[in-house]
Amino acid sequence: MIRFSDVSKRFPNGTVAVRDLDLEIAAGSFTVFVGPSGGGKTTAMRMINRMVTPTSGTVFVDDRDVRDVDAVRLRRGMGYVIQSGGLLPHRTVVDNVATVPVLEGTSRRSARRAALDVLARVGLDPVLAGRYPAQLSGGQQQRVGVARALAADPPILLMDEPFSAVDPVVRDELQREMRRLQSELRKTIVFVTHDIDEAVTLGDRIAVFGPAGTLEQYDDPQTLLASPATDFVADFVGRDRGYRGLSFRDASAVPLHDVRTAPASDISSLELDAGDWVLVVDDRRRPRGWIDATGVAATRAGATVEEATAAGGSLFTPSSHGRHADLRQALDAAISSPSGVGVAVDEDGAVLGGVRASEVVAQLAEQRRAEDRTRALDAPRKG
Ligand SMILES: Nc1ncnc2c1ncn2[C@@H]1O[C@H](COP(=O)(O)OP(=O)(O)OP(=O)(O)O)[C@@H](O)[C@H]1O
Ligand SMILES: [Mg+2]
Repeated sequence: MIRFSDVSKRFPNGTVAVRDLDLEIAAGSFTVFVGPSGGGKTTAMRMINRMVTPTSGTVFVDDRDVRDVDAVRLRRGMGYVIQSGGLLPHRTVVDNVATVPVLEGTSRRSARRAALDVLARVGLDPVLAGRYPAQLSGGQQQRVGVARALAADPPILLMDEPFSAVDPVVRDELQREMRRLQSELRKTIVFVTHDIDEAVTLGDRIAVFGPAGTLEQYDDPQTLLASPATDFVADFVGRDRGYRGLSFRDASAVPLHDVRTAPASDISSLELDAGDWVLVVDDRRRPRGWIDATGVAATRAGATVEEATAAGGSLFTPSSHGRHADLRQALDAAISSPSGVGVAVDEDGAVLGGVRASEVVAQLAEQRRAEDRTRALDAPRKG
């Protein structure tokens, strides 16, 4: 759908922002440009919608040289999202979203109606539609920015560091939302970030730009992490690489063991040794937190169970509707749990069992051994 053919950009001041770029972006894919500051990511993206013109080489969209397409028409087919949403401050949320359709001749009324639908789609409460951007949180503004880019239903979405100004928790939410949207809408998305974690979370394909405007590697996330093509990429993705690789491994086969549970009503009568932990559950066996001997003693001295329990760690759902948890989630559950036991729950949130960090690591080793065996069996056949 989008193709860079031997594209370079040298700015009049002599800076070469993009060097000999060859890249093909398939329709419906989520492609992330990642790399250090000044690596040419934004410049490369802006050549897609002709905000920047290449010094040499050609950018094709739908097999047409973008120079041969009227810039206004070209951009109509591309939503553009930037940091902090880039909203018009003197227009309400709904009118911000309706801007482009109105410019294109849609009546204000039907553009507003459509805007409300898109706002719902990106997870915004309709009561926010009448507010001005300054009356929204950063995360909400960012969602409006995405809604505005989607309003004219363009096949291509260009997103330049859209989530870098929001805090990590909100960013996680927005990333999840983005994945969900993409599975519904199947746009061709080009997304710029300097955060390799964000790239791995979002991208089907990742283009790593080096410091001098060169493309260092273009691969799916798993290949990128497992086999960096250059020293630069190895270094760039290197930090936490093993840990990140866990997110590509299925956790549904991790053996779960029984977890000692008790309802809140039974807590004060428990006899626990030092080092024992019990998982407090509600009437539907959903985890409410962990308690140890000290906590039990506190309840006998008058504390409520809620006050005496330690907040639980993260939970994971080994398998739900054909989707599997990954080993990173399982490990995170174990190491974030005060008892050292990560809690697995079913689709309804009820406790299935527990797993320790060492068991997750053992599962990793088991999967690697199985892969080695498969490779050994394959090798002679490939000759
Ligand atoms: N209009 C311009 N004139 C001159 N140099 C420019 C211009 N725009 C960008 N550059 C330079 O081109 C290089 C690449 O810039 P670009 O904005 O594409 O990088 P980036 O990878 O998006 O960086 P960041 O992660 O900081 O956003 C930088 O050295 C930058 O200073
Ligand atoms: Mg940039």
